[in-house]
Amino acid sequence: MMERITCEEAYNRFKPEPCVLVLSVDKNGKPSGMTAGWVMKTSIDPPLLAVSLQKKGYTHHLIRESKAFVIAVPNKALEDVVLFFGTTHGNEIDKFSYPGLETVPGSVVPIPLIKNATLNFECTLLKEIEAGDHFLYLGEICAVHANRDKKVLMNMGKRNGKRIFKEFEPLF
Ligand SMILES: Cc1cc2nc3c(=O)[nH]c(=O)nc-3n(C[C@H](O)[C@H](O)[C@H](O)COP(=O)(O)O)c2cc1C
Repeated sequence: MMERITCEEAYNRFKPEPCVLVLSVDKNGKPSGMTAGWVMKTSIDPPLLAVSLQKKGYTHHLIRESKAFVIAVPNKALEDVVLFFGTTHGNEIDKFSYPGLETVPGSVVPIPLIKNATLNFECTLLKEIEAGDHFLYLGEICAVHANRDKKVLMNMGKRNGKRIFKEFEPLF
């Protein structure tokens, strides 16, 4: 039987959820970023992506300054990076010094791409929208890079306090 539940429980049940790395740079070109699940495609023409970042975090300051960001879509091999970027703060730690994390320069925006990610979307900032305790960033995609052989990591939720991720193969 259908029951009324809290929003928090509903958000937790609304899984699997995508997970991406949202990357940007400060005014000196130093990169940082964070993990985000609240990401969506919003337009084909022009191609737009939106991502919702909490106000108390660090990454949104970089996006506001640089007016650009990269959305890197991870796979299973990047699960530890996803957890690291999702549990540490860029104003306290250099996230890009994570052991073994390989990057390549962006082709359009001055932000590193994750070399072994399944997809890297380079975006220029179109709009920032205040959304409660988050800021929603709408970005125009100016280039996309793919590792066609790689799969896509999804966040399944938590079991006994531990986040569970699973990799899926996209069908065309
Ligand atoms: C799987 C996962 C998904 C997350 N999704 C979001 C999200 O959509 N939006 C958000 O603001 N934070 C999200 N977070 C939390 C941030 O990644 C986390 O607070 C991070 O430490 C912020 O880093 P920063 O302070 O360097 O920006 C997520 C964390 C994980 C592990």
